[in-house]
Amino acid sequence: MKPVRYLRGSFPLLPFALALISGAASAVDYAPGRPVEVHEGARLDYALKCKGCHGLSGQGTPGHVPRLDGFVGLFTHLPEGREYLVRVPGVARSVLDDERLTAVLNWVLATYGRDTVAPGFAPYTVEEVAAARRRPLEDRKGLRERMLAELRTRGLLAPDDDGIGESPEQRG
Ligand code: HEC
Repeated sequence: MKPVRYLRGSFPLLPFALALISGAASAVDYAPGRPVEVHEGARLDYALKCKGCHGLSGQGTPGHVPRLDGFVGLFTHLPEGREYLVRVPGVARSVLDDERLTAVLNWVLATYGRDTVAPGFAPYTVEEVAAARRRPLEDRKGLRERMLAELRTRGLLAPDDDGIGESPEQRG
């Protein structure tokens, strides 16, 4: 089991890996070479509570739900992004308790954030998640649009990419 192999070329994720290895959610959950059917810890919680919308590969549901893979980490570059990822309804209103939700969020960033997580971004703490999830987001769509616009201005996101795309029906 060599979780560090996941960090190939993504130095900014090192703090994540270290925190995950020492913390409740273990990086070995998704170590290369393990059979994909093995779900435990944060990966299992993700599979049960998030996968239905975001997909097991973090690919999302085109036209409806944003992909997390290669996308979710972009929000960590923005001051409002850190809290946004906790306060978005699918996360904040999850039935998972604060501890497990924190583990899932850190697992999501370590797994799907890949090299898009901002350098120096520290993993979420349980206290932080507990507080943020209890403050509902107002105008979440507007906030998301503003953040995506800022990411485009910074050259981190392509002009036509909103992470959601179009469903096959919408494309016609
Ligand atoms: C019922 C479908 C659904 C479920 C279940 C769900 N989400 Fe989401 N998620 C969404 C949608 C839709 C958005 C886009 C923002 C919005 O409109 O709320 C989103 C946004 C997000 C975001 C912010 C990224 C972005 O591009 O806006 C994160 C992070 C996230 N979800 C993680 C999770 C996690 C972790 C779980 C499981 C605990 C989860 N979601 C469960 C539908 C879902």
